[in-house]
Amino acid sequence: MKTPVDIAVTGAAGQISYSLLFRLAAGEFLGDDQPINLHLLEITAAMPALEGVVMELNDCAYPLLNRIITTDDPKVAFDNIDYAFLVGARPRGKGMERKDLLQCNAEIFSVQGKALDEAANKNVKVLVTGNPANTNALIAMNNAPNLKPENFTAMTMLDHNRTINQLAEKSGVKATDVKNVMVWGNHSSTQYPDIHHAKIRGQDALSLVENDWFVNELIPTVQQRGAAIIKARGQSSAASAATAAIKQMRTWALGTAEGDWVSMAVPSDGSYGIEEGLIYSFPVTVSHGEISIVQGLDVNEFSLEKMRISEQELHEEKEAIKHLL
Ligand code: NAD
Ligand code: LMR
Repeated sequence: MKTPVDIAVTGAAGQISYSLLFRLAAGEFLGDDQPINLHLLEITAAMPALEGVVMELNDCAYPLLNRIITTDDPKVAFDNIDYAFLVGARPRGKGMERKDLLQCNAEIFSVQGKALDEAANKNVKVLVTGNPANTNALIAMNNAPNLKPENFTAMTMLDHNRTINQLAEKSGVKATDVKNVMVWGNHSSTQYPDIHHAKIRGQDALSLVENDWFVNELIPTVQQRGAAIIKARGQSSAASAATAAIKQMRTWALGTAEGDWVSMAVPSDGSYGIEEGLIYSFPVTVSHGEISIVQGLDVNEFSLEKMRISEQELHEEKEAIKHLL
């Protein structure tokens, strides 16, 4: 058996974690020969609920689940961890935009950034899911000066999967037949799901679906999917968010498939003219745990304008929390 890896999950008694933890313990993240230690962080008031989750995890008798640590102290939770799923944060309700959560959630990521800096393994991979995810990741990254910016990503894999699904449904193919979709920008209603380079069974997607459907159906559907789920369920997406979190971290750890890429929100290096330092979603490939923004893609005026709108929103979010950077 391999040595266990140490994985922190924050908001461990919340609804996303109720799906995520059981799948991590079952081996969906790093495979069924990789034991794990789970470091579960919650606020003090939720510790009793977390004990219930732990009882259930233990009752599954998972062969890979080596040890569970529960705590309300971020430094204890992040001690020597290899991976951090930062999920714990307030979700939005009906009629809210994700950025309305900035004031209540931002502080969490400043505290956790400092704790990661002090306690985590220097190669830790940090995935921020709690909303507004891009700017929360920016806050955590800026509060961890001893970690590299490359240690931080925010989750846009759910938006990536949503784009794949829309295209597959429209074309009557399987999700696995769809490659090279991408999501640019913020995990918000300004995000830009782009299919200009997408392929369906090897053919250009835009030769198989109408441009009008792409512009007037796919883009707004993906941008508003989170809100549609909240309206239908009365709660925000949870199982699909857990699936995306596992896929994003698994891809980061194990790499992208040959000839394809995924979307991740990563620190911008100025690629495609996007302001350096913002946590912006790009198409990326991963090899040996290192993320590279896909370079040299043709981006037309239509796309550039959409990419800029999302960049501007991220810039404004950054301005609103600059006291935390
Ligand atoms: P939830 O309310 O069910 O659970 C959140 C949990 O976080 C709660 O148990 C709460 O006690 C805990 N928490 C709050 N502050 C904490 C802190 N400082 N430290 C540790 N734990 C803390 O919410 P949820 O449905 O699980 O969603 C969690 C977050 O993920 C929300 O912000 C939601 O909007 C976001 N989300 C993001 C995506 C994405 O694609 N990026 C998708 C779905 C949900
Ligand atoms: C989502 O995209 O489903 C999440 O960000 C939750 C939300 O607030 O929409």
